[in-house]
Amino acid sequence: MIRAMRDVIVAANWKMHTTPVDAGELARVVAGRTRVPGVTRVICPPFVCLAAVGAALAEADREVGVGAQNVHHEMQGAYTGEVSAAMLVGLASWVIIGHSERRRDAGETDDLIGRKLGRAIEAGLRPILCVGEQLEERELGQAGTVVRRQLDSALGAHDPASLVAAGLVVAYEPVWAIGTGRTASGADAAAMAGIVRETLGEIGFPDRGEMIPVLYGGSVTSSAIDEFMAEPSIDGALVGGASLKPDEMAGIVARAGVTAAARGRTG
Ligand code: PGA
Repeated sequence: MIRAMRDVIVAANWKMHTTPVDAGELARVVAGRTRVPGVTRVICPPFVCLAAVGAALAEADREVGVGAQNVHHEMQGAYTGEVSAAMLVGLASWVIIGHSERRRDAGETDDLIGRKLGRAIEAGLRPILCVGEQLEERELGQAGTVVRRQLDSALGAHDPASLVAAGLVVAYEPVWAIGTGRTASGADAAAMAGIVRETLGEIGFPDRGEMIPVLYGGSVTSSAIDEFMAEPSIDGALVGGASLKPDEMAGIVARAGVTAAARGRTG
């Protein structure tokens, strides 16, 4: 069964929290509290904490992946203050692309996000592409249309085979659920995961996108995770606020482990 082959992933988005002084210790504690068979764990600290987190995890738990939260759309050049995919090699093996806070605060467009995706792939970084609708769009019944457009424009310029080879992950994060304490329902998130895969299929992904992990993100906590992990089309979570709390991460990864075990993933 194809579904059983998909990774179960819990990715921590630390956003603009932690410093190089304290990030390593937090990573060490989270790693120690989340050793659960079959769950791929990723920690995405701020750029300046990547080295500290990498060093801590090299000692504490090499199985936890390190990810960046953003990457520039060019490999090098006169872009003051920016960080390219080439610079991340050796510091990160994953990268979050198109987070709604960057769409909102840095004016990132679908086209730009598509170019970032290209640089990530070229550098061998595993991309987590974020998509999701605003509250108003959901209320107008446009959630599916918005997510389709985001996927079409970000992925359209790339060869599906290279995205599959890069290990593309899609995170469905309804914007109104991020940092608000309000989550989507499991059923709504599953329906959106269905739309994500349908769109991937239309773009030309083999097997209608069935091999691409789809995560849910938006106010995920240890008590809210169950509803999402119970959905066969959802393969894990992108966790913001709760990812800074080791107790919360322990609960979230433990619940993800139940799904991983049910799917026969043990490694
Ligand atoms: P949140 O953030 O869990 O704090 O809602 C999720 C995200 O932005 O990825």
